[in-house]
Amino acid sequence: MELKYRALEGMHDVLPESSHLWQYVESRWRTHCHQYGYREIRTPLLETAELFERSVGETSDIVSKEMYVFQRGEERYALKPEGTAPVVRAYLEHGLYAAGGVQKLYYITPFFRGERPQKGRYRQAHQFGVEIFGAAHPLADAELLSMVMAFFRVLGIPDDALELRLNTIGCPDCRPAYREAVRAFGRAHFGQLCNSCQARLERNPLRLLDCKECVALTAAAPPIDPYLCDACRTHFESLQSLLKSLGVAYRRDARLVRGLDYYTRTTFEVVAERGLGAQNALCGGGRYDGLVEELGGPPTPALGVGIGIERTLLVLQALQVPLPEPPSIDAYVVAFGDSARLVALQIAQRLRAAGLAVDLDLEGRSPKAQMRLANRSGARYAILLGETELQQDAATVKDLHTHEQTLVSQAELSEWIRTHL
Ligand code: HAM
Repeated sequence: MELKYRALEGMHDVLPESSHLWQYVESRWRTHCHQYGYREIRTPLLETAELFERSVGETSDIVSKEMYVFQRGEERYALKPEGTAPVVRAYLEHGLYAAGGVQKLYYITPFFRGERPQKGRYRQAHQFGVEIFGAAHPLADAELLSMVMAFFRVLGIPDDALELRLNTIGCPDCRPAYREAVRAFGRAHFGQLCNSCQARLERNPLRLLDCKECVALTAAAPPIDPYLCDACRTHFESLQSLLKSLGVAYRRDARLVRGLDYYTRTTFEVVAERGLGAQNALCGGGRYDGLVEELGGPPTPALGVGIGIERTLLVLQALQVPLPEPPSIDAYVVAFGDSARLVALQIAQRLRAAGLAVDLDLEGRSPKAQMRLANRSGARYAILLGETELQQDAATVKDLHTHEQTLVSQAELSEWIRTHL
C-alpha cells in the first residue's frame, strides 16, 4: 500500500506499544508535583504571537526562526513554542495573584518549534513544567532544583547519569554592564566568531556564551561575577549554600545564559551524560522576576522549569531503567457455538462493570480462533462458555499460565477472578 498521508516531519505518533510509558511518567509527574504543593494548570495550544514575542523575545531563535505563526483575520496566532508565557498570561487573566502568597502551578503540554529534527529534537515535543509565582527568596530556587532532581530519581535515573548546571545572569540593574563587556569581547574577536554569533552580537551578545561553535574562543570571555550587583550576588551565594545543605550536587556553568529572553538571576539545565547525543539537555529553567510585570501584571518574582518528556523517555531507555510492561487484560471470554455468543457479551459486560479488564471476539470466529486470540491477548484467564456451562449457568475458567480449569458459577465469576488474579 502506498501511503498518501504521513505524520509531518519532526512530529510523532505515540503507538499503543509505548503509550503506557507516557502514562507512567505522566502519572509519576502528577504525583510528584502534588507532593510539592503544586496544582495543575492547562492552557490552550494557541496564543497571540505577540505574547511570545514580548516574553521569549523577538531576537530569540525560538521566536525569530522556529515559531509556527499564522494569520487569521487581523490577529496573528502562534502555536505555543514553550509553556511559561501562556501560564503567566493565565495567571494575570484570572487574577491568581489576588490570592496573595506563593502560587505553585504545574502542567504537561505539547509545544511546537520548527527546528531541524534530530535525535531528541522534534517539531512537536512535550514538556512537564512548573511555574512558581510570588517567591523571591532563594529557598524557592533551592526547592525547585531539588524537586527536579528528585523527580529524575523517582523515575529511577541514577544521580551520576545527570549533571545539574547552574548559573546566574544577573538582573536589569547589573546585566547591561556585563552585556556590554561581552559585546566588547565579541567585537574584539569578531573575525573568529561563527556567522550566527556575528549576526546577533549587537542585539543579543550573551548568546555568544552558549554557542557550541565558538566555545574555544569564548572560554576567554569575561565572567559575570565581578559585574553582579550585591542583591544578585547574595541571591546566588545563598542558593548555592542551600543546595549544598540539601545535598543537591551541581556544577557552576558560567556559560549557561539560556535561549529565552525572560530570565533573570538563576538559570539552570540538567544534562544527561549518556543516552541523548547532541541534544543532551533534559530540562531547563530559571528565574524570570521581570516577566509578570512585562506582560502587564504587578511586580511578581517567579521561576520555573520545563522538562522534555521525549528526552526523559530516551534516557530511561538508554540507561535500561526498569519500566512497566504494557497493561494486559484480565480475562478473555470464549464462546463455543452461536448460542453462547450473546451470553459471552453479557458476561464480559458484567465483569467490566465489576472493574475487570475483559475482551472477546467481535467477528463470530470459531472456538479454535477465539482460543488463539485469548492466548495472544495476554489475559490471565480464558472464560469458556459451551452448552454444558450454559445449562448450569456456569463458565469454565482456564488459567492460561497453568492450563488448570475450574467450573465457576456465572454469579460468582467476577469475585472468583478477582481473588485469583
Ligand atoms: P527550554 O530549555 O526551551 O525551556 O525547554 C525545556 C526542555 O524541553 C529542554 O531542556 C528539552 O528537554 C525540551 N525541548 C526543548 N526543545 C525541544 C525539541 N525541539 N524537541 C524535544 N525536546 C525539546 C523552556 O521551554 C522554558 N519554558 C522552561 C521554563 C519554565 N523556564 C521557566 N519556566
